[in-house]
Amino acid sequence: MSILTETYTMNTGAKIPKIGFGTWQTPDGDIAYNSVLSALKVGYRHIDTAKVYGNEASVGRAIKDSGIAREDIFLTTKLPADIKDSSKVEETFQTSLSTLGLDYVDLYLIHAPWPWEERGKDYTKENIEVWQEMEKIYNSGQAKAIGVSNFNIHDLTAILNNGKVIPAANQIRWFIGYTENDITDFSKKKNILVEAYSPLATGRLLDHGELKKMAEKYNKTVAQISIRYCLQHDTLPLPKSTHDEFIQQNADVDFEISNEDMTILDSLKTE
Ligand code: A2P
Repeated sequence: MSILTETYTMNTGAKIPKIGFGTWQTPDGDIAYNSVLSALKVGYRHIDTAKVYGNEASVGRAIKDSGIAREDIFLTTKLPADIKDSSKVEETFQTSLSTLGLDYVDLYLIHAPWPWEERGKDYTKENIEVWQEMEKIYNSGQAKAIGVSNFNIHDLTAILNNGKVIPAANQIRWFIGYTENDITDFSKKKNILVEAYSPLATGRLLDHGELKKMAEKYNKTVAQISIRYCLQHDTLPLPKSTHDEFIQQNADVDFEISNEDMTILDSLKTE
C-alpha cells in the first residue's frame, strides 16, 4: 500500500490522507492548476490551500478536471488571518467555497491567531468569537472538520476552554530541527492532529550537509528523509512543489528511518 492511501483519523472520526499536497507560494493559474492536477495523477488525495494563497480557483478547477470523485479528495482551505471580526467569517467562507467551485471543504482552518502584520498580538477574545462562527460552519456540514493554524498553547487553550468543538488539526511550521515540541505535544495530547507545513523548510533543508549524508545512507533524497521524518513523528507533512519530478518523489516515502537515526535527526540544528 502506498503512503498516499494511508490515513490518520481525526478527532471527528474522519480520515485524512497522511501526506497533503501544499500550495503555499504556488501562483494561481497554470502553475497551480497543473501542479495540483499532477499531484492528483500521482495519487495524492489531499490538497492544502488557503484563501490568501490566491490560488483557490485553480485548485478547485484541477480537482474538478481530475475526474476523481469529490469524496475521494480531502481539501483544506483557511480563513485569512486578518479576519478577526466574527461577522465576516461566514461570508469569507462562502467566498472560498464559490472560488473553489465546491459545496463543502473537508477542513477549514483559522489561518493564524493574529493578522500577519500584528504577529504575537493577543486576539484571544476575537479568536473565541471567530471559533463560534467556525462551529456554525462545521454544524452546517459545509466544512467536515474545523481547526486552527499557527496556534500556540495559549491560543489553543482559549479555544479548548471556550469552544464546543475541539479543533481537528493545528497546522504549524514543522521540519527537522524545528519540531516545536511544546505545542506539538500539547496538540497531540488533546487529540488534535499536527499538520507540518514547510516540511522542507521551504527548500532550505535540501542543502544541509548532515541530511545529505543521511539521505545517501538510505538511498533517498533529503526531501524524502524530511517528509518521512514528519510521518514517523505522527505529523502530517504538506510538501509543496511545482515540478512533476519532485511531486512524484515526495510521495515515494515508503521506507523506515531507524530509531537511532531518528534520534540523530531529532538533535540536528537546521535553523
Ligand atoms: P518547487 O516548488 O520549485 O518545485 P516546503 O514544502 O517546505 O514549503 O518546500 C517547498 C520548496 O522545496 C519549493 O521551493 C520546492 O520547489 C522545493 N522542493 C519540493 N520538493 C522538492 C524535492 N523533492 N527536491 C528538491 N526541491 C524540492
